[in-house]
Amino acid sequence: MSGLNLFRNPLHKWLGRAEPRPTVPVKELRERDRRRMLRHFLQIEGRDRLLRFGSHLSDEQVAKYVNAIDFHRDMVFGVYNRVFRLVAVGHLAFAEKQPHKNDVTEKDRVAEFGVSVLKSARGLGIGSKLFERAAIVCRNHDVDTLYMHCLSSNQIMMHIAKKAGMEIHRDYGEADAYLKLGPANPASVLQEAMQEQLATIDYALKANVRRAAKLWDMLPGRKPKQ
Ligand SMILES: CC(C)(COP(=O)(O)OP(=O)(O)OC[C@H]1O[C@@H](n2cnc3c(N)ncnc32)[C@H](O)[C@@H]1OP(=O)(O)O)[C@@H](O)C(=O)NCCC(=O)NCCS
Repeated sequence: MSGLNLFRNPLHKWLGRAEPRPTVPVKELRERDRRRMLRHFLQIEGRDRLLRFGSHLSDEQVAKYVNAIDFHRDMVFGVYNRVFRLVAVGHLAFAEKQPHKNDVTEKDRVAEFGVSVLKSARGLGIGSKLFERAAIVCRNHDVDTLYMHCLSSNQIMMHIAKKAGMEIHRDYGEADAYLKLGPANPASVLQEAMQEQLATIDYALKANVRRAAKLWDMLPGRKPKQ
């Protein structure tokens, strides 16, 4: 169970239509989320960890990666489920353009995106939504090239990349994909702001419910949950 049903629209049944995918509130993550990010990444194990990081990182290396994330330079997005569990994280890292390397852009900076979704929440459009959000943020930050580095065998990510219109270069089992983006416009700025506002309300609601549940568990006579 993904526990992501907060924004489901019940009208589809009445209209006799296929059930639509739930709306995914994508929230920008900050320092206060770092501990939950670490918990999320430690749950990405085995082959999935290889697919996410490009190599087999130990738990210690994962912790180092999470601790090194610079929230002032990069942007990190997350999706929380109903019980305030971080089910997905997307890391949008900005970097200076390297001469001779990033010759597909005239801009000073490029961005690279990495994403992970917990197994229990896959196939609901969350990975695609995080990617979509990263692309909008790039446009609004005057970055017109969004890179993704993944293994060619990563069928799901390849599918998402192709769906987004990314140019894909395969090389010795690895794939570098990049997406060229248009400039910001009022619609892209509004879209980012609205997504963040919706996600902020959702975040506050879930955090408060979680806090209330913890207080409830602390009442005399109640056994705390393990
Ligand atoms: C890749 C990943 C982020 C996708 O997350 P997700 O939330 O399940 O993705 P979505 O639900 O948005 O999209 C999955 C798409 O892949 C398609 N898909 C599923 N299995 C597939 C397969 N074997 N081959 C091709 N496409 C497949 C789905 O149909 C869906 O496409 P659609 O939206 O057009 O129907 C997730 O699987 C993951 O965390 N993997 C481990 C880490 C990783 O690989 N990260 C990417 C490298 S940075």
